[in-house]
Amino acid sequence: MTALIGLGTYLPPREVTNAELAARFDTSDEWITARTGIRTRRWADPGTATGDLAVAAGERALKSAGLGPGDVDAVVLATTTPDHPCPATAPDVAARLGLGHVAAYDIAAVCSGFLYALAVGHGQIAAGQARRVLVIGAETYSTILDPADRTTGVIFGDGAGAVVLAAEPETGRPGALLGVDLGSDGALRDLIRIPAGGSRLPARDGAAADRYFTMQGTKVFQQAVVRMGDSATALLERIGWRRDEVDHLVGHQANVRILAALARYLKIPAERAVVNLDRVGNTSAASIPLALADAAAQGRFAVGDRVLMTAFGGGLTWASAAITWPDIHPC
Ligand code: ACO
Repeated sequence: MTALIGLGTYLPPREVTNAELAARFDTSDEWITARTGIRTRRWADPGTATGDLAVAAGERALKSAGLGPGDVDAVVLATTTPDHPCPATAPDVAARLGLGHVAAYDIAAVCSGFLYALAVGHGQIAAGQARRVLVIGAETYSTILDPADRTTGVIFGDGAGAVVLAAEPETGRPGALLGVDLGSDGALRDLIRIPAGGSRLPARDGAAADRYFTMQGTKVFQQAVVRMGDSATALLERIGWRRDEVDHLVGHQANVRILAALARYLKIPAERAVVNLDRVGNTSAASIPLALADAAAQGRFAVGDRVLMTAFGGGLTWASAAITWPDIHPC
């Protein structure tokens, strides 16, 4: 069995309020709050990279788990905003954390990335390739936002969250990762993308605007509820949880209207849905661990509570995971 034994998060200090964005774009606090639920978010200062946030969150997750160098066998880092197109960011993060020559690699599944990374870390443990895996979701979307696009400009925030997964011989212990569900639909790849900078359209051939993140918001919205809902439903059936047994629904923090629609779709009471996007915005691969830590800090989770996580993002990709809440102190 695999168990979650540590959780750490990091947000950059600079707060960017709706009022600040209303001075920059043709938008308003009223529009952003009503249409997304977001009131403020954090953006990293220029010069701060995703790896910097990942190291800070990773350090805290290791502290939360009571681990030191030599205790971790792999680092899996989910991000859409790596420090460089090449190499991956995870090896640098592992080195900066002093973890030695461990396996370290990035996962690219956009906003589903953290749950994809969790599934991969779980797989390494289940296969006997690792005893403990540091799983990180970290993003600096502020570096890929189009300064001329008010729609994406008001949605995204920067941040990082990390968990430690460990092999756990005893089944039924709090913290158990009970199952994962992953999926994708590449036919809808154009709904969320950065057009240039890859081999399809090398950066040298693209227009300046092609280097920015683009999203067809309304179509993504429609996909999000069904994809997360169906993935979560498939997982619940597989692990044998009834919907009314889910104590906390931790959905990808993209839009409060999506979270409300998801709870309705799953027939889970809205008050069981965790919401922290009002304070951090959509932090993509960092979204789920930041929401977990926020709910834990507010005392919402009791040890053993049933927590259902689900996310969707570019690709399209979607993912769900179920855990019982562990006896840990998030940092
Ligand atoms: N301020 C004011 N008006 C705006 C803004 C803004 N910031 N952004 C868009 N508008 C306008 C549009 O131009 C449009 O105007 P028009 O009717 O004159 O053309 C109007 O508001 C309505 O636009 P819609 O796109 O229909 O607005 P909607 O209610 O769908 O909200 C939003 C837009 C917030 C983007 C929503 O569609 C959404 O949240 N979509 C999902 C996005 C998401 O979940 N992304 C997560 C995945 S991303 C990832 O994987 C990294």
